[in-house]
Amino acid sequence: MALFAKKEVTPPVAPEQLPVHVGFIMDGNGRWAKKRGMPRGFGHIAGGKTYQKILSYCRDIGIKYASFYVFSTENWSRSQEEIQGIYKLMRQYLDDVQSHLAEGVRWIIVGDKTAFPADICERMKKLEEDSKDNTELVALMCCNYGGRNELMHSAREIAALVKAGKLEPEDITEQTLADHLYTAGIPDVDLVIRPSGELRLSNFLIWQCAYAEYYFTNILWPDFTTEDLDKALIDYAGRGRRFGGAE
Ligand code: IPE
Ligand code: IPE
Ligand code: MG
Repeated sequence: MALFAKKEVTPPVAPEQLPVHVGFIMDGNGRWAKKRGMPRGFGHIAGGKTYQKILSYCRDIGIKYASFYVFSTENWSRSQEEIQGIYKLMRQYLDDVQSHLAEGVRWIIVGDKTAFPADICERMKKLEEDSKDNTELVALMCCNYGGRNELMHSAREIAALVKAGKLEPEDITEQTLADHLYTAGIPDVDLVIRPSGELRLSNFLIWQCAYAEYYFTNILWPDFTTEDLDKALIDYAGRGRRFGGAE
């Protein structure tokens, strides 16, 4: 069965009003499960289904880049039971999308994948490599991702270039930093959507979201629907982005 069966969908706003890059902080899985008297892992399974639905819809309406916060550098503090459950979902999902590459989605793992078990890390690398020429939608999965950690990595790479005599400190620009992020070459985030009622970024794409618009909703991620995404997109289309300029 196709994962990304293309449907004819009319976007909620004119195509030129759509954000180019949308970031999703998929939050609220644990609370969703708790409300049902179930373990947190049950919420992650439901959240995974929402993720697939929303990603597929992003493609249908013509969003070019969609980033999803899957696992943060701070999430390692969770129980082994929860982490093992997330590994299981990752394995299943990576295998699933690997067998649907013909549907045109390009996959990029944003974060240090070497912290995951070797088989997951290998699946991630293979998926990135095998999908690199796909153009339907760029799906960025932020796994073991933290914005501060990403900036640290970028600084280390740049420092190594300076040390090797390949770069002068005064030649380091904002672009140099951006070029050494996991998202090198990907446009900045235009719209961040965070469900679950929390009003924070939680270390998500902090550099890339410097001028993003934010949309918060109390809906828990497993309950988030394509209609909710439409609402966020309509809200976004009505905002005036000035980037520091004057009207
Ligand atoms: C987000 O949902 C998923 C991950 C962080 C992996 P949570 O697990 O944070 O759900 P809540 O915030 O506890 O409800
Ligand atoms: C952010 O959610 C991380 C992911 C969605 C993967 P968290 O639930 O971990 O963030 P906090 O603890 O509310 O800041
Ligand atoms: Mg949370």
